[in-house]
Amino acid sequence: MLPLSTFLFPVSLLSTLAFCATVTYDFDVSWVYANPDGLQTRPVIGINGQWPVPTIRVTKGDQLVVNVKNSLGNQTTSIHFHGLYQNGTTHMDGPTQVSQCAIQPGESFTYNTTVDQPGTYWYHSHVRGQYPDGLRGPLIVTDPEDPHKSLYDEELVLSFSDWYHDSMTDLLASFINIANPSGAEPVPDSALVNETQNLGVKVQPGKTYMIRMVNVGAFAAQYVWFEDHTMRVVEVDGIYTEPTDADMIYLAAAQRYSVLITAKNSTEQNFAFVGSMDQDLFDTVPATLNPNVTGWLVYDDNKDKPAPKTLDSFEPFDDFSLVPQDKEDLYDHVDHTIQLDMKMDNLDDGANYAFFNDVTWIAPKVPTLYTVLSTGANATNPLIYGSNTNQFVLQANEVVEIILNNDDPGKHPFHLHGHAFQVIHRSDEDSGFYNPTNTPPFPRTPMRRDTVLVHPNANMVLRFRSDNPGVWLFHCHIEWHVASGLIATIIESPLDIQRQLVGSIPRDHLDACRTARVPIAGNAAGNTRDLLDLTGENSAPGYLPGGFTARGVVALVFSCGVAVLGMGVIGGYGMAPIKAKTG
Ligand code: C2O
Repeated sequence: MLPLSTFLFPVSLLSTLAFCATVTYDFDVSWVYANPDGLQTRPVIGINGQWPVPTIRVTKGDQLVVNVKNSLGNQTTSIHFHGLYQNGTTHMDGPTQVSQCAIQPGESFTYNTTVDQPGTYWYHSHVRGQYPDGLRGPLIVTDPEDPHKSLYDEELVLSFSDWYHDSMTDLLASFINIANPSGAEPVPDSALVNETQNLGVKVQPGKTYMIRMVNVGAFAAQYVWFEDHTMRVVEVDGIYTEPTDADMIYLAAAQRYSVLITAKNSTEQNFAFVGSMDQDLFDTVPATLNPNVTGWLVYDDNKDKPAPKTLDSFEPFDDFSLVPQDKEDLYDHVDHTIQLDMKMDNLDDGANYAFFNDVTWIAPKVPTLYTVLSTGANATNPLIYGSNTNQFVLQANEVVEIILNNDDPGKHPFHLHGHAFQVIHRSDEDSGFYNPTNTPPFPRTPMRRDTVLVHPNANMVLRFRSDNPGVWLFHCHIEWHVASGLIATIIESPLDIQRQLVGSIPRDHLDACRTARVPIAGNAAGNTRDLLDLTGENSAPGYLPGGFTARGVVALVFSCGVAVLGMGVIGGYGMAPIKAKTG
C-alpha cells in the first residue's frame, strides 16, 4: 500500500526522478464552509471539498495540467497561474473575457502549460472579484539547479493574506456604489498566514530554512518580520537575487519573496513572527480590527509562545536595491514607450472608478485573444479591441517601457502577466509625474519581478522585452481596483499569436464560450464584417460634466433619480466626447 501523499502528488514525485514529467491536478471547485480567524464561519471557495486549497508543486520543465470542474452552482470561475510566462500558451493564462470565456457552473475546462521557470508563484481565480473568497493558493516550481541550494536544508511555504467575513459579491456591490463615491475599499476583518492564525512552524536548531512567502490577499500589503532572526532574500517573484539581508519585508498583494533563515543553535526559546497589514491603505480603521497575524518559529513545543514585541515604526527593506543573480543588464535602448496615467474618479452613475489615461477597463464582448485570432492582418490595429480595454499592440522583440504615473494618494502593486520586468526607476511619495530630465541614473542591473509597488502620488518606470507573444493584462493587484477598472491590455505580437494558436484552441475552451453565449470572433463588439464598427460594444457609465466633486456627485445623481429630465441632460453630457476632470 502506497502512503497517502503518493496519491496526492503522484506525478510530481515521479518528476523528481524523470526529466519533464506531466503533473496533473483535478480541481473540483465548490463552496465549503470555513472559519479561519475564529470569528465567523462563512462559505468559501474550496477545491475537492477542502479549504485552504492545495499548493501546486511542479519541477522546472514539467508539463502542468489542471482539470477544473466548476461545481459552484451560482458563479462562473477561471484560474490564473500568477507569474507563469505561458510562452506559446497565452490561451491558458486565465483572465476571463481576455484569454478565455468564464467556466460556467457545471462545466469543465483544462489548463495545460509547460512550466520552464523556477520559483515561487501562486494561482487564483481571474473572474471579477472572486479569489478573495478563497480560490487562491501557492504554486511552487522546484529547480534542480537552484543556485542557492547549498545554502539551505529545508523549504517552507508561508502564504500571507487578508480576510473578509462577507462575500466578495456583497462587498463589491457596496464598493462600486453611489453610496461610496470616494471609492473607499472594504477593510479586511483579519490577517491570515497559511489561511489561519497562530501558526506554529517547527524548526530545528542550526538548520537553515528557505521560506517562500506569498501574499495571496485581496488588498492589504503586510509588513513581515521574524523576531531576532535575519532574512536573506534569495528570490523575488521567481527571479533569483544576490543574497541580501533584510529585517523586515513589505509584501504587497501578489508579491513573493524567498528568504533564508538560519535557526538558532539552542532550543531555549520560541520566537514570534508577524504579518502586519499596512493600515495606510485603509480609509478608516475599525477599533475592533487586529491588523496583525502572529505565528511562531517553534524550537520546543513545551515552551511558551511569546506575544510579539510592539514596534515603534515599520522600516521595511527596499526591494528596489535587489540585484538579480543573472545580472541581466539594463535595457538601455527603448523601442516603444507606454505611458499610463492613473487616477480614481466618479462616473455619472455616482460610483468611483479607476482609470488609465481616462479610460476605465470594461470587459469586451469578445475575449481579446479571440479577437486577435479571428481578425487576420487587422489584428495589429489597436482600434478593433474597443474603446474600453486600454489596449497596446506590441511588435516582436521591442524593448518596451511602461511609465506609470500614480495620480492617486494610494499605494498600488502593479502586475504584468506574461513577463517579469526590470524596475528601473521608482520615485518617492508625492513626487508627481515622471520627469526623465530629473531622475537619478538607472541601475545597471535592475531588479526584475512581476509585481511592484508604486508609491502614493508618485511614478515608476518598468522595462521588458516583447519576446512572448500573447494577450497580457497589466493591472493593479488590489482586487477592488481590478473590479473598478485599473487594467490595461497588452497585445504582444498578434500575428505570432495567430501563427501559434489559430485552429488550436482546445474544444473545451470554445465550449465555455458557447455555453456562456459569448461570441468568439470579430472586434470587441463582436462585429465580424466591419472591424472598425464598434457599435454595441460594452461601455462604461458616462463621464461627468466638469466641476463635480465626489460629494457633488451624490447630490447630482440623487436629484436625478427624482428629476428624470435632469437624468437625460446628464446622460447627454455622458455621451459627448468630454473627458472632464472633477475638482
Ligand atoms: Cu495575479 Cu491578473 O493576476
